[in-house]
Amino acid sequence: MKKLTNKWALVTGSSRGIGRTIAKALAERGCNLVLHGRNADHLAATVADITPFGVQYHLVGGELDSPEGVEAVIAGVKAGPGYVDILYNNAAINNVSTPVFEFTQAEWARTFQINLFSMVQLCAAFGPGMRERGFGRIVNVTSGIAGQPNLAPYSASKAAVDKYTQDLSVEFKGCNVLVNHVDPGWIRTDLGGPDAWEDVSSVIPGMLVPVLLDDNGPTGRFYAAQDFKGL
Ligand SMILES: NC(=O)c1ccc[n+]([C@@H]2O[C@H](COP(=O)([O-])OP(=O)(O)OC[C@H]3O[C@@H](n4cnc5c(N)ncnc54)[C@H](OP(=O)(O)O)[C@@H]3O)[C@@H](O)[C@H]2O)c1
Repeated sequence: MKKLTNKWALVTGSSRGIGRTIAKALAERGCNLVLHGRNADHLAATVADITPFGVQYHLVGGELDSPEGVEAVIAGVKAGPGYVDILYNNAAINNVSTPVFEFTQAEWARTFQINLFSMVQLCAAFGPGMRERGFGRIVNVTSGIAGQPNLAPYSASKAAVDKYTQDLSVEFKGCNVLVNHVDPGWIRTDLGGPDAWEDVSSVIPGMLVPVLLDDNGPTGRFYAAQDFKGL
């Protein structure tokens, strides 16, 4: 099993669902973790998950729904390890199903702030340090959602995540900062809902593939976690 000993990963939205599952799988590989949720009190279950693996961890609570909130999360990381080797941009919100022309501008803006703009701000905060140290893995969580105008802000924000990921990968070309995006599949979480096709455990090992890439490996690529289910 490939180890991540002495690496630090920030997993946004690791208090529950897919982020919590990613955090546990990273801890199992010896990776130190900055755990994040809207409130640090939400992280107790994830701490219990990772404790058996004996890794170091640091807790950061904070809303990603404003630039100031994201700045506070960045400050929280800086008050802990100070940097990250792996930035796992996982936190996101979905919309309540709504006729497409009835979404308010405020809902469009809030969805893009949490799902895209916070990611952009976190990449700007931690990407340049990765380049200086000659190692980085940035993983942006996207979605296969398609043909659902009733969730248009969510869907469009994820399309923007895809485009941003590809552009950012070019910015970091040749310096071993690999930037990739991954779709977990339709998963039974609070966001995915009870009718989703897959249990959250199915996202491993797929969600780890873009983290475990060899140095100077693929960048700007799309991965589908379910392609690796059961491996
Ligand atoms: N589930 C699916 O079927 C599915 C399909 C495709 C893509 N995805 C993507 O997978 C990722 C994880 O989804 P999930 O299903 O695990 O979601 P989830 O169960 O709803 O968990 C969301 C996580 O994001 C955090 N979060 C939510 N709003 C936040 C905010 N305003 N500020 C800071 N943190 C916030 C939550 O923290 P708190 O616990 O503190 O609220 C929680 O840790 C998302 O990017 C999602 O778009 C999911």
